[in-house]
Amino acid sequence: MIRDAARDFAKNELLPGVIERDTHQKFPAEQIKKMGELGFMGMMVSPEYGGGGMDTISYALAMEEISKIDASASVVMSVNNSLVCYGIEKFGNDYHKHKYLVPLATGQKLGAFCLSEPEAGSDATSQRTTAIDQGDYYLLNGTKNWITNGGTADYYLVVAQTDKEKKHKGINVFIVEKGWEGFEIGPKEDKLGIRGSDTHSLNFNDVKVPKENRIGDDGFGFTFAMKTLSGGRIGIASQALGIASGAYELARNYSKVRKAFGTEICNHQAIAFKLADMLTEIEAARYLVWKAAWEKDQGLNYDISGAMAKLKASQVAMNVTVEAVQIHGGNGYVKEYHVERLMRDAKITQIYEGTSEIQKIVISRGLLKD
Ligand code: CAA
Repeated sequence: MIRDAARDFAKNELLPGVIERDTHQKFPAEQIKKMGELGFMGMMVSPEYGGGGMDTISYALAMEEISKIDASASVVMSVNNSLVCYGIEKFGNDYHKHKYLVPLATGQKLGAFCLSEPEAGSDATSQRTTAIDQGDYYLLNGTKNWITNGGTADYYLVVAQTDKEKKHKGINVFIVEKGWEGFEIGPKEDKLGIRGSDTHSLNFNDVKVPKENRIGDDGFGFTFAMKTLSGGRIGIASQALGIASGAYELARNYSKVRKAFGTEICNHQAIAFKLADMLTEIEAARYLVWKAAWEKDQGLNYDISGAMAKLKASQVAMNVTVEAVQIHGGNGYVKEYHVERLMRDAKITQIYEGTSEIQKIVISRGLLKD
């Protein structure tokens, strides 16, 4: 049911205008609003806080369907669900949940997750943004980069160094609201793919953050970021899976109507074998994604399975979209056939929420433990 609902929504509401939004870097504001009304923005949040109370498998299914059509919309959904809502529900207190989680989960407000900095991308412990304890508030200063929903969000989870001496144990995370004095949104990034999503740098100049907006005990911020990102990676793996399966479906359909050498091109083994490889890889990725989602739902540790799912699904997204363009030939290289966009969108899945190289660090450290 959830898969069908997401599929229908994607076809009816996201497909119209997706090329135009990509071309003009237009944020899918109306579509995201509708996704909120349908419950896609807080799928796993408990109904007590306005969410759908669904499991991670359901979320992965919905993410896959939305991403088949519009990966710009799905990254908005992914960040709101698996980074912002999850982080606040899992680690926030009652105040955070009632004030911030409820509007985020119901789609009335949008969230952003602010960890990356000009010099702290993969090397996330090297935070330069500072939050200095001033008694009943922290004074926040610094710059965050490549922030998804950067200009459109209402609430921002901002990671900052509160005690440099303590390194990663002196990092905290805060909920910051748009419009607070000293909080400036930088220019929008002009991106290769996911161009409908809204990516900005953010500047914090002496922003006063009330003490009650810190999540968790003092020094919990880095653990918060790592634990939250483990689940975020399942969301991005599902997105990659959707990009791959969307491109595969387009290529399969095209190969059944496009003729060359007197027959539909799917009758040429060169094309049929490509499709066979594409689907086999997609299925392999899908089971890794579902395994990670299932482990999360079972309360098991999913750090490694989430990293494996993202590593594999993003590789598959890249390979499959390149092949989908190839099967489309010249038509694959122009916008109206969609596959060139999916190929551009695929690339980011190997970069954000931890590059493929970072996933290999997480996996290899895990497998070498004890
Ligand atoms: N859960 C809990 N704690 C964890 C953890 C996890 N999954 N992973 C690491 N930690 C803890 C470690 O135990 C350690 O704590 P102790 O010293 O108390 O044991 C601490 O965190 C530091 O860990 P490491 O020593 O392993 O740190 P490191 O510097 O070697 O690297 C890393 C860790 C895994 C490479 C990490 O820096 C990392 O994940 N980097 C990638 C960051 C990332 O994914 N950024 C994405 C940005 S968000 C985004 O893209 C969102 C978007 O807009 C789409």
